[in-house]
Amino acid sequence: MTEQAPGKVNMDKLVSLCKRRGYIFPSSEIYGGLGACYDYGPLGVELKNNVKACWWKAVVQERDDMVGLDASILMHPQTWVASGHVGGFADSLVDCKECRKRWRADDVKDGKCPDCGGELTEPRMFNLMFKTFVGAVEDEAGTVYLRPETAQGIFVNFQNVLNSTRRKLPFGIAQIGKAFRNEITTGNFIFRTREFEQMEIEYFVKPGSDEELFQYWVGERFDWYVSLGIKKENLRLHQHSKDELAHYAKECYDIEYLFPIGWSEIEGIANRTDFDLRQHTSYSGKDLSYYDEESKEHIIPYVIEPSAGVDRSVLAFLADAYDEEHVNDELRVVLRLHPALAPIKVAILPLSRNEKLLPLSQEIYTDLRRYWMVQYDNAQSIGRRYRRQDEIGTPLCVTIDFDSLEDNAVTIRERDSMRQIRVPVKELKSTLDAKLNGEPFEVLPPGGKKWLGFED
Ligand code: GLY
Repeated sequence: MTEQAPGKVNMDKLVSLCKRRGYIFPSSEIYGGLGACYDYGPLGVELKNNVKACWWKAVVQERDDMVGLDASILMHPQTWVASGHVGGFADSLVDCKECRKRWRADDVKDGKCPDCGGELTEPRMFNLMFKTFVGAVEDEAGTVYLRPETAQGIFVNFQNVLNSTRRKLPFGIAQIGKAFRNEITTGNFIFRTREFEQMEIEYFVKPGSDEELFQYWVGERFDWYVSLGIKKENLRLHQHSKDELAHYAKECYDIEYLFPIGWSEIEGIANRTDFDLRQHTSYSGKDLSYYDEESKEHIIPYVIEPSAGVDRSVLAFLADAYDEEHVNDELRVVLRLHPALAPIKVAILPLSRNEKLLPLSQEIYTDLRRYWMVQYDNAQSIGRRYRRQDEIGTPLCVTIDFDSLEDNAVTIRERDSMRQIRVPVKELKSTLDAKLNGEPFEVLPPGGKKWLGFED
């Protein structure tokens, strides 16, 4: 965590909030952890699931031209010969002859070990795929790889999807899943880990329409981050130069986010041409063509690939949401997460622990948890509980007070503005629903009123 982007939350602060509040923990921490491996805690798993669900909704559920897939992580090893990963998915590395530390050749400046100044070996290519073995014998015949990208699971299923769904070009296949790369340089929290999750689309198009559809997907994917609350000024596009392009790509843009560590990629959109389908046709001997009824010809589609990192998206959403402000001379930390991403949508807060408030509070809690992740909290002062919910990003709090027992109404407090309204209990669910879906907070339901609010 060396660099720090100006005006951005410091990465250490984010890491500490994530640990303290149950978003993200170092993996196997009781044994001292395992480098660059992290576990998503009770709030982290909700946030991550919400990111994936929003992506799936946008790219599968709400479209006519997309279907989903969930392929296995272990695949036939020939897959990776055909894809070019066995031959070419490698980094050039050097070893220090003194301290034995291994470095990427690009990261070494003057031919000496950056740690101890020792002499280095000549560069050697090191494949980034993790190897393992199927069956009881550990030999070459049983060697398989943990997939380094989910994409190949889509390519090898191209004909299966085509035959079972009768799709016409252009159409796409979406997949979310884990991928693994034995990176030498990891770090910056969940930005670069050896085990990570991808959200990938392979969008199959007629050759000749690829450049236009490539631009279309760049726009779609950029707008998706903005629609979920990322500030536009914190996003930019980076076009790959010829020497940055992967072996399969004709063109590629990265969507970059201004992370605490500076501008870095959250998603790459590549024009993979017909490279993968041709390679798999040639290595498997199977026909992976598409019959085009218009031209009455068999063609090999081109592929546009928007490939997003789930963990990097989670980090970007957290970093963008993080805010600090002074309220009544105290620091208020707020995660201004989009309601669709917030792990807890509503907190139910009885004003005190007085048992008279219990039945109505529990009734509301039991009812609302059928619809959303809600949290019940009756410990500490109401002000402290609001702050806790602010810090974990809960968009709305419902407070039940002694008047509620008389007027059957409760207050709703909005995280971002800290304003409050009072609404009849019978309007509560529909009001929360409307606010979570973007209705302005000042719009009142029948019988609702403005409320000066409890101490904040
Ligand atoms: N499938 C593209 C990538 O993993 O980067």
